[in-house]
Order: sequence, then C-alpha cells, then structure tokens
Amino acid sequence: MLTNREIAGAMTIKLDQVPEKTPAFVPGIRRAPNRGFRLTPEQTKTALKNALRYVPEEYHAELAPEFLNELLTMGRIYGYRFRPGGRIYAKPIDQYRGNCTEGRAFQVMIDNNLDFEVALYPYELVTYGETGSVCQNWMQYRLIKQYLEVMTDHQTLVMESGHPLGLFPSKPEAPRVIITNALMVGMFDNQADWEIAQEMGVSNYGQMTAGGWMYIGPQGIVHGTYNTILIAGRAKLGIPGDGDLSGHLFISSGLGGMSGAQPKAVEIARGVGIIAEVDYSRIKTRHDQGWVNMVSGDLDEIFRTASECLIKKEPLSIAYHGNIVDLLEYVVQNNIKVELLSDQTSCHVAYAGGYCPQGVTFEERTRLLAEDREQFRRLVDKSLRRQYELIKILVERGTYFFDYGNAFLKAVYDAGVKEIAANGVDEKDGFIWPSYVEDIMGPELFDYGYGPFRWVCLSGKPEDLARTDRAAMECIDPARRYQDRDNYVWIRDAERNKLVVGSQARILYQDAAGRVRIALKFNEMVRNGEIGPVMLGRDHHDTGGTDSPFRETANIKDGSNVMADMATQCFAGNAARGMSLVSLHNGGGVGIGKAINGGFGLVLDGSARVDEIIKSAMLWDVMGGVARRSWARNGNSIATSMEFNRGFAGRGHITLPYLADDELVDRLVSAAL
Ligand SMILES: NC(=O)c1ccc[n+]([C@@H]2O[C@H](COP(=O)([O-])OP(=O)(O)OC[C@H]3O[C@@H](n4cnc5c(N)ncnc54)[C@H](O)[C@@H]3O)[C@@H](O)[C@H]2O)c1
Repeated sequence: MLTNREIAGAMTIKLDQVPEKTPAFVPGIRRAPNRGFRLTPEQTKTALKNALRYVPEEYHAELAPEFLNELLTMGRIYGYRFRPGGRIYAKPIDQYRGNCTEGRAFQVMIDNNLDFEVALYPYELVTYGETGSVCQNWMQYRLIKQYLEVMTDHQTLVMESGHPLGLFPSKPEAPRVIITNALMVGMFDNQADWEIAQEMGVSNYGQMTAGGWMYIGPQGIVHGTYNTILIAGRAKLGIPGDGDLSGHLFISSGLGGMSGAQPKAVEIARGVGIIAEVDYSRIKTRHDQGWVNMVSGDLDEIFRTASECLIKKEPLSIAYHGNIVDLLEYVVQNNIKVELLSDQTSCHVAYAGGYCPQGVTFEERTRLLAEDREQFRRLVDKSLRRQYELIKILVERGTYFFDYGNAFLKAVYDAGVKEIAANGVDEKDGFIWPSYVEDIMGPELFDYGYGPFRWVCLSGKPEDLARTDRAAMECIDPARRYQDRDNYVWIRDAERNKLVVGSQARILYQDAAGRVRIALKFNEMVRNGEIGPVMLGRDHHDTGGTDSPFRETANIKDGSNVMADMATQCFAGNAARGMSLVSLHNGGGVGIGKAINGGFGLVLDGSARVDEIIKSAMLWDVMGGVARRSWARNGNSIATSMEFNRGFAGRGHITLPYLADDELVDRLVSAAL
C-alpha cells in the first residue's frame, strides 16, 4: 500500500501550504445560493475523499469537517480556505511568474474571470450565467496557477472539468492548454446526473468563456446584443438599413453577466430599453458602471419616462426592480405598445435559481432554494406558464418576441406548455417563436462567418487598447456590407462607449477574412513593440464553435441540428493548428446535454510562428462553421463558401450542396406517404 509520504515525495507541483484559516468574506460581494445537497452517504464519502486528494494528509482531519460543512450548506465543496485573501484581478502580464508568455497570459485571463468587479459569484468561482465557472474549487485554482507558472513551451497542461490533470511533454507548435468541461458519457448526459457529478467534485460547468478562461465582462456580449436588436428592428420594424432604434421600445429581463449588456446595447443603438431585474445588487452594479441609466420600481414612472424619450427619439435604458412577469402584466393591462420583446433570465438552470418566480422576492427565492426545492420548482413552472400567456397576448397584438439564447422557450415547454413546440409534440423542430439565432444572428451574421472575435491587451494599458481599436478599424471596409458598416461604427465608437469592465479588452464581430487581417496586424504591432502581447479569442457563441439546436445552430434545418460534429471538429482543428488554448464544453448557454461548444485563445507574441497559426487556425475556426452551415443549405453560407473556393483555389476547398427542387420532392413524398 502506498503511503501519502511516498505520494507527496513523487510530486514537485502540489499544494503544500494550507492557509491557517478561511479568509473573511468581503461584505457586499454577491454569494452563490445553496445549490442543494442530494448525495447518498457513499457518494458523500467519495466527494470528501475527492476534495481531500488535493491536500497533504496532515491537514485532512482539520479540513474534512470544513469540506463536509460546505457540501451540506452550499451543495458544493469550494474549498473557501484556499482562496487567496483580498482582491483577485487581471494584473499586467509582467507581474505574473512564468516560463512562457502563454503561461503568464492565462493567469491574467483566469484572474479577470474571478475579479469582484467582473464575476457573478467570485467566492464560488462563478463568472457568469448563474453557474459558469473557471474551475470547481480554490484548490484547483491554486494548483492551476502553479502549473502555469512552471509550464514551458515544450509542455501542454491538461484541464479536465476544472482539475489540472498534469503537464505533459509537447512542442511549441501545440496548444499550451487543453480544456474540457462537463463532457458526459451519452446515457448520463443530463442535468440530474451532472448535478451528482458536480457535487462529487468531478465535473465543472464551464458555460462558454468562464471555463474557457476567455470572459471579458459584459462587454463580450454587448456587441452581439447591439447587432441582434438592431437587425431585429431593421427586419421586423421596417427600420432602414442605415437606421437605428431611435423611437423604438425594447423590453427584456436580466442584468446579470450576459443579460447586463442589454441596457448598454439598446442605448448604443439609440433606442429605449426597459429591463426587469429581481436582484437589486445586480441593478446597482450595472448602474454604478454606467451601463443602465435610470432605476425604478414604479412602473407608472418607468413607462411615463420611456414614452417621453420615445417621442423625443432620445436613447434611454431603465432598470425595473421587479419581476419580468409583473412588468408584462402591467404592459398587457395598460395596452402598452411593445415592439421588441425578449427574456434573458438564466432559464438554462431555471430550477437551480436561474429564474425567479412571480410573487417571490429575490431573497425568498434564495431561501426557498435552500429549504423547499419542490415548492420552488412548482412556482417556477407556474410563473413560466403565466409569462408565456402574457407574451402570447402581446405577440397577437403585434410584438416581435424572440428567445434570447437562454433556453426560455425550452423552459416553458418543460413547465408543461406543449403548445409552444412547433410540431406540438416535442422540441425537435423548435418552437412557435424564433430564437434570436434562428431569425437574426444565424442568417445575418453566423452564416457569413461574422462572430464575436475579441482581444485582451495583456499589458493592462488602456493606450494599447486604443491603438488596437484604431488598427482594427483600418482593417474594415465599411462599404462592403451593412454588417461591415455596423462593425466599423462599433469599433470607431468603442472607446467613447466605455465598455471595459476588468481587463483591457475589446469585442468586435468579424468574419474569417476580417479576423485574420486584424490578428496579423496586431501580431505585427507586438513584433514592432508598438503594443504589449495580446490574447485573441472569441465567445464560443459563434459561427463554428457551438452545436446547440436551441441557439447557435437553431437555423440549421437539414436535421443535423442534433449533431455535435462541428463544435468537436472546431476544437480538434484549432488544437491541430496550434492555438495556444483550446476548450470543449458541454451545455454552454443552454444547459447540460443541450449544447457542445468549443473555444480558443491565441497569444500574440509577435513571432512568425504565430503569424502562421493565425493564417491557418483563425481561418479554419470560422470557415469550418461556414462550410457546415453551407452544407445545411443556408444561402448566405453557400455564397461565402463559393467565395472561399475561388479565393483559396488550390489551397482549400469546401464541398457545396446541390439544391433540390422543393416541388419535385414534395410531389414525390406526397405520392409515396
Ligand atoms: N444572449 C446571449 O448572447 C447569451 C450568451 C450567453 C448566455 N446567454 C444566456 O442568457 C441567460 C442569462 O445569462 P447571464 O449571464 O446574464 O445570467 P445571470 O444569471 O448572471 O443573469 C440573469 C439575471 O436574471 C435575473 N432574473 C431571474 N429571474 C428573473 C425574473 N423572473 N425577473 C427579472 N429578473 C430575473 C437574475 O436575478 C439575474 O440577475 C443565461 O441562460 C445564459 O446562458 C445568452
């Protein structure tokens, strides 16, 4: 039998030091709710042993009761004791230790994800989306940092659901970090089995950029939200191609990690937005950041002010402190005209606290979650059904409603509203109302390859960000398409719109060619010493990164929306081409079993090696998605793939679909069946 002494002696990278006591929790920092404890006694023993395997034996007797208490009271073992005291935030890269630029760069990214100013529940390592986490516990955090500090460019760190499995010999052209999160074996790929795995400490829900270490604060989603509501306005309200949302009203809910982008986006698009939020602390965060202008719990006052701004065509964002269902009740009763309507509560985990039922305050929701989950579930279902009825009335009155990628329609279906399914039976053919990807983002952006390209200036200097903004602008031809014009305006005004929260980061929707151009330009600037190193990445919520029938691939109609080949290929192809970090997750955005998403990070160090990675990997990352969308017969993707075949003749080639005549197929099938 091996002894712990022998095991300790066989490791050079390990947690030797256990802090004497748990650092005090800073008052006012949002804390995750109790996620519920549901393990059997045997599973509980395993969970404890799982957590203790990070810690030297001499501390086991002291830490075991502490870990058990966390499990029983929070539903997870976070290892609070191991959280470094004080504030964690993205420091300039040269303040981190490391044997390669990538190792130090990833520490910047991780710390940004856990910043009090950025993260949703920083003490519980949740970055955004109610449950999206960098890793599972603070022991992992410390160990990951140790690995990143020693990693060389001849090694690759393997991350399995938050756990740093180890450093393995590799080569400079390979990824430095490969991350997977929550990948479950098919028959266990469901929320209930995942919950058990997470409680036992063997799974991590990475969402997208939380577990992929690429979160850049709510800015990450502002550009996409801005595009979505602007394109919705143009497509559904008759706003001209070069027009904005002046004089138009948008209503939604949520001021959290992603949803907090809504008020900012609507103001940039010059419309009026009213966003319901039950948690006052989140309203305060967004208000303090200047991301929402007016705060009120008085619906008479809210709609009076909104109407004045609509008439004067002045932009305004308003946070309603209350439940979205109450807001909709008011709208229906008072016959208020709503043009654009959505919802961005965390419905991907509706029963785990993501959705606050009507009639329950935020504080009661937290208490109910801990004390009576069954009752909570019943109230969630009732509230979702009521919200559905109200939306139905508004849609009949002319409102354009869209699902905002939060699995809202699926949650309504799960709450028992079968009529919301497009085929009236199951969810396979989607729902009676479109998701924003189905109607807006899919055909108008993703199918061309436009997606949420982003970068972080690792020096932490605002002047580096300003330089990259200007350089990116020079790479865009605003006269090419309306998308390019919107992107040009976006980056031109980005600094003025004060979008940075946390690291010096920028988001800019771009297609494949645009991303390659900008990336090469930035790498050259690093090479010339004009700026410090840059981390490139993207949201997983992109053209090729994610297979999710309820979201990213909602506009794939050839039956392959239930397949996850594209995201997996995207991940593997990026790894093969040498991205610095590649990640593959289960459930990002919509919940376990409903999506597979791949992401990447690429550190620009100015080298010729990185130029080559940009030319092959950045192109692949986008065009792999365009090619699949083209094969699904999506018109704009076919056109983009044809352009690729011409432009890359002899170097690359995409198989194009022949288009069958609908009438021929209809006639034949009607006769046969
Ligand atoms: N639109 C996108 O592009 C996009 C991208 C990623 C994720 N998402 C999805 O959007 C959802 C929201 O993401 P997030 O990061 O903002 O999550 P979050 O949990 O940080 O924020 C959701 C907010 O909704 C509030 N809320 C819950 N129920 C409410 C109710 N009935 N009325 C009013 N407010 C209520 C919560 O208090 C919370 O602040 C998630 O499901 C996420 O997966 C959307």
